[in-house]
Amino acid sequence: MTAPSSRPVRKKIGRPRAADASAAATRPVRSQGDDRPRAPIRTRGLTKAYGDLIAVDHLDLEVQAGEIFGLLGQNGAGKTTTILMLLGLTEPTEGQARVVGLDPARRPLEVKRRVGYLPDAVGFYADMTGRQNLRYTAALNRIDRDEAEATIDVVLEQVGLSARADDQTEQYSRGMLQRLGIADALVKDPDVLILDEPTTAIDPLGVSEILELLRQLVNERQMAILLSSHLLNQVQSVCDRIGIFAAGRMIGQGTMDELAHRFGDDVAHVEAGFQADDSAGEARVREVLAAIPSVVEVTGPRRPADAWVVGVKPAEDETGVRRAILAAASSTGLDLTSVRPMAPSLEDIYRRAVERAAHGHARDVR
Ligand SMILES: Nc1ncnc2c1ncn2[C@@H]1O[C@H](COP(=O)(O)OP(=O)(O)OP(=O)(O)O)[C@@H](O)[C@H]1O
Ligand SMILES: [Mg+2]
Repeated sequence: MTAPSSRPVRKKIGRPRAADASAAATRPVRSQGDDRPRAPIRTRGLTKAYGDLIAVDHLDLEVQAGEIFGLLGQNGAGKTTTILMLLGLTEPTEGQARVVGLDPARRPLEVKRRVGYLPDAVGFYADMTGRQNLRYTAALNRIDRDEAEATIDVVLEQVGLSARADDQTEQYSRGMLQRLGIADALVKDPDVLILDEPTTAIDPLGVSEILELLRQLVNERQMAILLSSHLLNQVQSVCDRIGIFAAGRMIGQGTMDELAHRFGDDVAHVEAGFQADDSAGEARVREVLAAIPSVVEVTGPRRPADAWVVGVKPAEDETGVRRAILAAASSTGLDLTSVRPMAPSLEDIYRRAVERAAHGHARDVR
């Protein structure tokens, strides 16, 4: 495979909409007596049981236009089952879903026509080229041929596949197939994208490009994007809101800040770099840091070039502690090289949420 282009993805995707259709297509649907636009993806009590196994347990979910929502959960948590119900590919046992205002259990074909979907395992016709496969999808979706050709060129470029577009897909690598899957989801210029593990096979530079593309689609086109993943860094970097899934249950959802607040232990962390040449210097730094009010924990550098980390409780005193470190450095003459807040990691939040749910507090944190 030729290396995917590293240039930022800028081209606007999407066919120009017909003037008369445009207003209706972009106007948010509003419910009666409610000023808020209706979320393009909504579920209420959505449940799927396979025999005794409850794969998805009374899920309430809303994904708004203009946001990326990340479903996070371990293997078997129920992410794919949720997505299959949203597309009408499996029927709920209980509860309901609305996707672009439609019930996917009753109108699966219409939902599929209007929603871009990347399945967890993509399947393409192996004896056809990438471009031919996309043409086939465009034809199935009754997109005008000329329009389709132009859109296909744009989406192939956006996913970094232009150079290999005319090779048969049996010659594609796994990552190339996943890229083609994303292009395939975009061909119909959807308002909603549902992506099941979109980046598992894609190389690191390619992942940044794909995530940047998703962000662009949301910002420029106000798409609603739901993606599932167990790659915490990616979810943290691209998602506006995150839902933590465990054993079929949504055990917490919100922005990173909201989740950090709910599942945090109210300890914020500040990193401070000091130039301390000997153990006496280090002892002095430790003493100065530990004396600052609200500092509850001081961890020295693991390696000489590393920074010190102080735990701050309550977390809201974090700014005050940073100022106090600056002031203490200047009054004591210690050589401070950097001081900055440390963002909470999704991994910590996730671990705590799952532990709490496992200890029977799930009801409080739902
Ligand atoms: N067709 C099926 N028949 C029986 N059980 C199923 C079926 N499909 C899924 N399950 C079960 O439902 C649960 C949820 O599976 P699901 O595929 O939704 O998980 P997931 O969160 O997508 O996991 P992964 O990260 O591995 O993709 C699992 O326990 C799985 O074994
Ligand atoms: Mg899955």
